[in-house]
Amino acid sequence: MAETASVHSFHYSGRDLFCEDVSLAALAKKHGTPLYVYSQATLTGHFTKLDKALAPLPHLVCFAMKSNSNLAVIRTLADLGSGFDTVSAGEIQRVIAAGGDPRKCVFAGVGKTEEEITFALRQDIYSFNVESEAELKRISKVAVKLKKIAPVAVRVNPNVDAGTHAKITTGTYDNKFGIAFEQIGDVYARAAKLPNLRLRGLQMHIGSQLTDVTPFRKAVEKVVPLVTELNARHGFDFFSIGGGIGIVYDPALASGEAKWWKTPEGKKVLTPQIYADALVPLLKPLGLRILLEPGRFITGNAGVLVTRVEFIKKTGKKNFVIVDAAMNDLIRPAFYDSYHEIVPLTKKGGALVSSDVVGPICESGDFFAKDRPLAKVGEGDHLALLSAGAYGSVMGSTYNSRPLAAEVLVHGKKSAVVRRRQPVADIWRDEALTPWQ
Ligand code: LLP
Repeated sequence: MAETASVHSFHYSGRDLFCEDVSLAALAKKHGTPLYVYSQATLTGHFTKLDKALAPLPHLVCFAMKSNSNLAVIRTLADLGSGFDTVSAGEIQRVIAAGGDPRKCVFAGVGKTEEEITFALRQDIYSFNVESEAELKRISKVAVKLKKIAPVAVRVNPNVDAGTHAKITTGTYDNKFGIAFEQIGDVYARAAKLPNLRLRGLQMHIGSQLTDVTPFRKAVEKVVPLVTELNARHGFDFFSIGGGIGIVYDPALASGEAKWWKTPEGKKVLTPQIYADALVPLLKPLGLRILLEPGRFITGNAGVLVTRVEFIKKTGKKNFVIVDAAMNDLIRPAFYDSYHEIVPLTKKGGALVSSDVVGPICESGDFFAKDRPLAKVGEGDHLALLSAGAYGSVMGSTYNSRPLAAEVLVHGKKSAVVRRRQPVADIWRDEALTPWQ
């Protein structure tokens, strides 16, 4: 907690955990659990740090809203001038619903439908990030039909290993993303002959949760000469270097216990400044607008998931802490074996007990921590799962007919419900019996 306090606005005041100036225990009492709580100051702080570090370049930060697409989160970032990296027509509609500007949206994804392309073109989005030649042809066809010019950037796969979790590495030839580095020149030459396309830039993204700047530097070093050449031929506006900046999940790692956490520069955390220092000198000579697509860096440490302890179950081998949140609320530990720090809302002190923190769902994968030394807790106590702001609520489901959790945004002393807890009957609202029942 001490290590992570510097990167977000969740902190203890006395024995109680606060988000900015609001007690989390008070929020849990008022709104119930499981409850996502977000800090507006952390969202703003992280966006601003990155935006400032990139100030030497003409740039646009396009927040990857797949990490957290709550309307109030989008609005917070839109008000700071953010653009948006979207992956569906639904996400573009969310930007509009939040009062954001669709003309600051890029639209990525390997499987855009004609309907989605039509919608995006009508909204005058900034650019399509195109993943295949078939998609270029489809966008051209739709643009001709709508009598519009479609701005496009092809996603290059630089074949640089990001060295991150296999499920979130995207920039090697084993992945379905982008077009191989060697084929890009020919693809642009053919795209230039398709009607109603404007070849506006080039895009890349090598993976998520990168804790070392080296793969970013290697990919940018490899792709910059390609951008220079293509820009000379096609007259680009921008180069997007994607997202992927990692965050601190485990304070033990940040304190240097794990070697991989340290960057070659010997720094312990990948900060916007380390990122910018490595990349700005490589990008500046291009003279192009640089787009970034950070998601986790902005939202990850801006959110926690608050949960209540239902039961303590001691078996011969284990101390199970059974909580009211489950894998349907936060799937990352089950899906990626990922680590989330777990802290009490009210500190009690005492010896640490090796515990498994688990949810009520009938799957062994429904856990938040295994063999974790935790302060002793009892029924009715509350815990916070930290760093849950990115890929938390957005990956939630109603598995086991569990309603989607409520979400609250905190701003100084103020707090507001930004998603009400889903009423249980809404889970089957769109279902029906058949005519023969
Ligand atoms: N741009 C593209 C093209 C992406 O595919 C992604 C993430 C991003 C930007 C944003 O990456 P970020 O800055 O957030 O690392 N559910 C996983 C992460 C999936 C990431 C998918 N793509 C998790 O919980 O770790």
